[in-house]
Amino acid sequence: MNINPISSLQGTINIPSDKSISHRSVMFGSLALGKTTVSNFLMGEDCLSTIQCFRKLGVTIEIDAETVIVHGKGLHGLTAPKEVLDCGNSGTTVRLLSGILAAQGFSSTLTGDASIQKRPMQRVINPLGSMGATISAKDNNFCPMHISPSTLKGMTYHSPVASAQVKSCLLLAGLYADSPTTVTEPFISRDHTERMLAAFGAEIKREGTAVTVMPCKELYASDIIVPGDISSAAFFMVAALITPHSNITIKNVGINPTRRGILDVLIDMGGDITICNEKTICGEPVCDLNIKSSSLHGTVVEGSIIPALIDEIPALAVAACFAKGQTVIKDAAELKVKESNRIDALYSELSKMGADIIPTDDGLKINGMKPLKGAVLESFHDHRIAMSLAVAACNASSLSTIQNAECVKISFPNFFELLQTLTR
Ligand code: S3P
Repeated sequence: MNINPISSLQGTINIPSDKSISHRSVMFGSLALGKTTVSNFLMGEDCLSTIQCFRKLGVTIEIDAETVIVHGKGLHGLTAPKEVLDCGNSGTTVRLLSGILAAQGFSSTLTGDASIQKRPMQRVINPLGSMGATISAKDNNFCPMHISPSTLKGMTYHSPVASAQVKSCLLLAGLYADSPTTVTEPFISRDHTERMLAAFGAEIKREGTAVTVMPCKELYASDIIVPGDISSAAFFMVAALITPHSNITIKNVGINPTRRGILDVLIDMGGDITICNEKTICGEPVCDLNIKSSSLHGTVVEGSIIPALIDEIPALAVAACFAKGQTVIKDAAELKVKESNRIDALYSELSKMGADIIPTDDGLKINGMKPLKGAVLESFHDHRIAMSLAVAACNASSLSTIQNAECVKISFPNFFELLQTLTR
C-alpha cells in the first residue's frame, strides 16, 4: 500500500464496531438460551473467526449485513466439533474459548495462524489447570491446544498480568465450576465480559481489581448494539491531531472507562478533542468525538492507565513523534506478546522514517518533532502496526510503502478507503 503525504483531514465518519464486544456477543449469545440479535457487529476477520468456531460447535449463527443472529444453545448445548477450531489471528477467540471448552463434556483442539502459534497460552493453561481442566499444548504454552473433558472447581486466581483475555477465560470457566471463581489483576483490564455476562443473567461481583462469578445454571439471550471501537478511532484521532488544518468528527465511539485511556492521554498531551452526545447503549458509554489539529507535547504514560490503552500504544507512539519533548511509555511489556512484538515493530519502522525512538524493556521513549521521511515499511502482518504506520506516513515528507497492509482486515477492513474519504 502506497501512502502519500496529505495536507489535511476533514469530515465526519463512523468507525468499525468494537472488536472485543463483537466477540463476546457471539460467545455469550451461543451459551445463552434464546435468540441474541447483535446489531453493528464488526465484520472483521477476528470476529468472523469467532463465528466460524461457534458454528463448528453446533450453534446456528445467521449474518445479514451487519446484523448477526445467534441461536443460543444454553450453557450445556454446545456439541463436539468435527474438526480443529481455527481462531485465525485472534487471541481473544483462543483465550476466551479455551475457558468455555475446558468445561465441556467433549474434547476439542484450538489453533490459529503463525502469529497465534507464537503467542503465550500458559497464562490461561495454568490457571485453568488449577480449576481442574485438562489441556495439553506445545511446550505447555503454544497452540495447538488440546482440551479434554473435565469437571471444574472454583478458585481465586491472582493474575500477574492485567489481561481481559485471561480474566474473561477464567470467568467463563467459572460459570461451570462448583463454587465461586474470583480473578484479581494488578490493574483493572477492560470489563466488557463483566458487563455483558451480567446482562445475560450471570451473577458477577466486583470489588477493586477483583471480579467474582458465581456458578451459573443458564444464561439468557439479550440483544446487543455494538458501539464503535475506540481502538479503531485512535488512528483517526491521532491523524487529525498531527495533520495541520484538520477537523474531523468520529461518531458513536465507545468510551468505556476501562478503554478510554487514549482519549485522556491525547487530551493531556494538548489535543483539541471535544466529547459530545454522551449516552449509554446496551450498558456501554458512547459519544461523538470532534478532533482538531493541535500542538502536542510529550507525556509519561505508565501504571494503571496502560491496560486502558494497551492496543492504542502504536497510534500513541506516532502522536509522540509529532509532540514537543519526550514521551515515555512504561509498564507495557505486554506489547511484546501482541499480534507482533509491537515494541520492536514500532522501533524498527518509525526509526526508518527518521523518528528518535528508543525501545526499553517495558515500553518506548520517543523524542518528538524529528521530521519524518517516507520509507518502505513492514507491518509484520499486525493490523495496528499497519494503521499506525499509515498515519505516520500521511505526515512524512515523501511517499511511503506499507508492506503486508491487507492485515487491516482483522479489525478495520475499510481503513484505507475511510482515510481517503477524509483526505484533502
Ligand atoms: C482483549 C484484551 C486485550 C487486548 C485485545 C482484546 C479482549 O488483550 O489487547 O486486543 O477483547 O479481551 P490482553 O487480555 O492480552 O491484554
